[in-house]
Amino acid sequence: MSTPYSRITGTGSYLPPRRVTNDDLARELAGRGIETSDQWIVERTGIRARHFAEPDVTSSELALHASRHALEAAGRSASDVDLIIVATSTPDMVFPSSASILQHKLGVAGCPAFDVQAVCSGFIYALTVADAMIRTGTARCALVVGAEVFSRILDFGDRTTCVLFGDGAGAVVLEASDTPGILASDIHADGSHVGILCTPGHVSGGQVTGTPLLHMDGQAVFKLAVRVLEDAARTVLKKAGKTDADIDWLIPHQANIRIMQGTARKLKLPMDKLVVTVHEHGNTSAASIPLALDAAVRDGQVKKGDTVMLEGVGGGFTWGAVLLNM
Ligand code: ACO
Repeated sequence: MSTPYSRITGTGSYLPPRRVTNDDLARELAGRGIETSDQWIVERTGIRARHFAEPDVTSSELALHASRHALEAAGRSASDVDLIIVATSTPDMVFPSSASILQHKLGVAGCPAFDVQAVCSGFIYALTVADAMIRTGTARCALVVGAEVFSRILDFGDRTTCVLFGDGAGAVVLEASDTPGILASDIHADGSHVGILCTPGHVSGGQVTGTPLLHMDGQAVFKLAVRVLEDAARTVLKKAGKTDADIDWLIPHQANIRIMQGTARKLKLPMDKLVVTVHEHGNTSAASIPLALDAAVRDGQVKKGDTVMLEGVGGGFTWGAVLLNM
């Protein structure tokens, strides 16, 4: 039976214990003859620290902890879940999906489980797909997760990228509802920008070929990000019949404080409506939005009934937004 709406009933997140400050990273890089500083990183990005997973910890492991917290918050158990979607660009294996591995770690079997690969927009894509599947009656209780171990694909010889990213996971339980939760969503991609943000390695004949490390043209990404984030936000507001003034909280992808503040200004939102976790998490790609959402719910910022704008942008180039009532 289809229901008119889907709604978030619980949020959860998890950060691996190892917290690396800018000073820690600067010391580590100095050992490789690379110069950076806390001051440079904070001024350009707002990042003060990030968390790195230990070498044997995978995305599905981070996802497991975040999922358990989200299920607990929703008052659900893993056996209630009838759909699992994991957004990740750093999956445990080439295949099977991290979602299948997560399902097994949760001790259940049978429901559909698959990964979505849209880099830093991955959680927005995954939430949009789960919402559509719930509204068409294909699922009633979805676990939607963003999980990454970006530290695995960082080039610690490139100071322009390795200082920006971190590891972590965030999750939501999205359930069928008679009252509106997700109000509107909007997702896009433009593959002509593949080269400005990519990890161009691949597996061939059992060997990794190319460069399996993140490459980014920071300034090109910056310019594109500011433009598309405003477009996506305006589109979902229009689809939902809402205006800037209806937004209680803006939770953008946590990549760079300057991009986030630029988007808030364009939406004429005061900075105290912007949820910021980039200073403590760095850029955790697909995990960043659900991590920030969970932090804002747990510290009492985002409350039941609030109208929240989620926005993502990342490699592909991909971008999108979801407007929802908590
Ligand atoms: N420490 C010290 N100096 C550095 C560092 C560093 N870590 N990195 C670069 N520099 C130097 C550069 O070498 C350059 O030196 P030069 O002037 O002597 O040549 C100088 O700092 C300025 O470099 P720019 O690249 O011009 O710095 P910019 O102000 O553009 O900031 C940054 C770089 C932070 C990457 C910025 O472009 C940015 O935030 N871009 C968006 C990136 C982003 O958000 N990506 C994620 C979105 S999608 C996703 O999440 C996957």
